[in-house]
Amino acid sequence: MTEYAVVAEGLVKKFGSITAVAGVSFKVRYGEIFGFLGPNGAGKTTTIHMLATLLKPTAGDAWVAGHHIVKESDAVRRSIGVVFQDPSLDSELTAYENMYIHGKIYGMSGEELRYRIEEMLRFVELYEHRNRLVKYFSGGMRRRLEIARALLHKPKVLFLDEPTLGLDPQTRAHIWEYIRRLRDEGGVTIFLTTHYMDEAEELCDRLAIIDHGKIIAEGTPNQLKRLVGSDVIYLKVRAVNGAPNPCDALSAPPVMECKPLREGMIALKVSDATQAIPVILEKAASMGLKVAEVSYRKPTLNDVFLYLTGREIREEEGSEADFLKHVIRVRRFRRR
Ligand SMILES: Nc1ncnc2c1ncn2[C@@H]1O[C@H](COP(=O)(O)OP(=O)(O)O)[C@@H](O)[C@H]1O
Ligand SMILES: [Mg+2]
Repeated sequence: MTEYAVVAEGLVKKFGSITAVAGVSFKVRYGEIFGFLGPNGAGKTTTIHMLATLLKPTAGDAWVAGHHIVKESDAVRRSIGVVFQDPSLDSELTAYENMYIHGKIYGMSGEELRYRIEEMLRFVELYEHRNRLVKYFSGGMRRRLEIARALLHKPKVLFLDEPTLGLDPQTRAHIWEYIRRLRDEGGVTIFLTTHYMDEAEELCDRLAIIDHGKIIAEGTPNQLKRLVGSDVIYLKVRAVNGAPNPCDALSAPPVMECKPLREGMIALKVSDATQAIPVILEKAASMGLKVAEVSYRKPTLNDVFLYLTGREIREEEGSEADFLKHVIRVRRFRRR
């Protein structure tokens, strides 16, 4: 087990009749950024909570940094840093004080603690703000402080649950940069969850796609995109009286699949868009179809999810249901 930073074998978590995690198995190598990509409710947070020893699995085993998550939970806790999905800073304290309390909990003190706090605050570029109350921090600053705090005791494995949830694009890119530097300069192994396709794509060396508590695919972003195995061409076809249905007209090689979208758009799956486009345009013209727009793209992870599940990973943030879920979870957490 020791060549891997994380090994999970058939992890299951049930909450009453709800199966949040339905038996996941995967391995994370030391020094890599491994991601769990999936929609809301897929079981990502529950998996992190089990690996971080906050929740006991209903079934299955897992080892983190070589230690069993149930039988050696203290050793696991010493080896990991965690940034939770929900904010967990004390906003009535300064950045420095938040760090200091965390260090004390981990048995750090004196010069060592002071030095490490400063080092980590510099790493996330918050040193200048160390004596400000966290309640005056922006969302991005809070997230950076949480990352710094999670790194204080030099964990081997860092868990990040939706690290850039709700942040603006510039701040997100900034946080990605810190995460890459941790891997490249600090040799920290990173396990992160996200429902953002671009984050998985940009950041993860390898990832597992999770849906309804199960891993439905695993690999590097490129390997996963090869599952879709083709380019996608988008055509906007103008309605012309007497012209055939575009998908009926064009569903023959080199087109492997045609899907009607909204407002006269169709999506065509082909193996090589640059070769297929002239052939398709000629055919369309000969059948009386007026093509107003052509574009194509390499498949994205969104196309992979669509291909595997028939659905898109949708943004459901800010919905009332989600907000309620958040409130309920915070209350539960406080009661624990
Ligand atoms: N403490 C809990 N009690 C009951 N159900 C829960 C609890 N935590 C999570 N769930 C449910 O388990 C499923 C997975 O949730 P979660 O792990 O938070 O998913 P994700 O992080 O991928 O959005 C959801 O259906 C969620 O409502
Ligand atoms: Mg979550």
